[in-house]
Amino acid sequence: MLRVSDLRAFIAGLPKAELHIHIEGSLEPELMFELAGRNGIELPYDSVEAIRAAYEFSNLQDFLDIYYAGAGVLQTEQDFHDMTWAYLLRAREDAVRHTELFFDPQTHTDRGIAFEVALAGIDSALQRAKTEFGITSRLILCFLRHLSAEAAMATLEQALPHREKIVAVGLDSSELGHPPEKFQAVFDRARAEGFLTVAHAGEEGPPDYIWQALDLLKVERIDHGVRCMEDDALVERLVAAGTPLTVCPLSNVKLRVFDTIEDHNLAHLLARGLKATVNSDDPSYFGGYLNRNFEAVAEGLDLDRDALITLAKNSFEAAFLPAAMKAAYLAEVDAYAAED
Ligand code: HPA
Ligand code: ZN
Repeated sequence: MLRVSDLRAFIAGLPKAELHIHIEGSLEPELMFELAGRNGIELPYDSVEAIRAAYEFSNLQDFLDIYYAGAGVLQTEQDFHDMTWAYLLRAREDAVRHTELFFDPQTHTDRGIAFEVALAGIDSALQRAKTEFGITSRLILCFLRHLSAEAAMATLEQALPHREKIVAVGLDSSELGHPPEKFQAVFDRARAEGFLTVAHAGEEGPPDYIWQALDLLKVERIDHGVRCMEDDALVERLVAAGTPLTVCPLSNVKLRVFDTIEDHNLAHLLARGLKATVNSDDPSYFGGYLNRNFEAVAEGLDLDRDALITLAKNSFEAAFLPAAMKAAYLAEVDAYAAED
């Protein structure tokens, strides 16, 4: 067993991919304050500390209410660029070599901000990071599941001219009461148009929502998915198909999916042969970026070096990358493990 300081050093340099990060959830209070000032927007808080202090939530809906309000400061293409750039700089510090970001266009179009404004700002930051420090990326468009299937279809249509910038569509926001089946027609159309599919399922929703995501939405990965462990047949299905789970440990504790990090089921997921990955979800709101999530599970669940290597490898294997790029990243993990 590595000592904590050695474990942290090992995590710090371990090459990894992040596959579950809502870019709007990376907006730090400092930047939120700055953008509000730049755009002449009144925030109901008079300091950065007051914003941070308002992050008092212990369930998904209370979090979402604050998260959507925070996104209201994003107005211009430059704002979206600055938010995304700040995340990418932070990701680089955590040895993130590849990242797949969610964005929520409806959070912006419903406020009168054009789809193209959000997309262009996010995309230009991703291209800049590729050029300046070699982080590769993909973008995933998430539909807000508390809104209608018709609204999701209209959003998909807005994305069609920008297909080359968006690899997949997903489903986020309030899970309970908004099962995957509600979006079957939208996902059928998205796949027909060449998008891959993912969905948040089994975070607060029951295992049945994971079955629906697999059977009706034909997803490549399940986002969260931790409640699969309540259903043995479902676990067998996920293991047999090698379906990855993008698990977000600090998010799960903050939103009381698990009471404490020691209660998190990540070690059991791995022991059952599920292809679990570790991710930050909404790092500005949930207490940490990717390496903090790795540290939390390493320490809270007594994960050893081999488990951390497995998690890093799973992240690249589960990425939406061509085989040759996955192989190159996996070789980087092997080289790091061999030298450390
Ligand atoms: N769950 C569901 N929807 C979300 C989340 C989440 O953790 N973060 C942003 N939208
Ligand atoms: Zn999420």
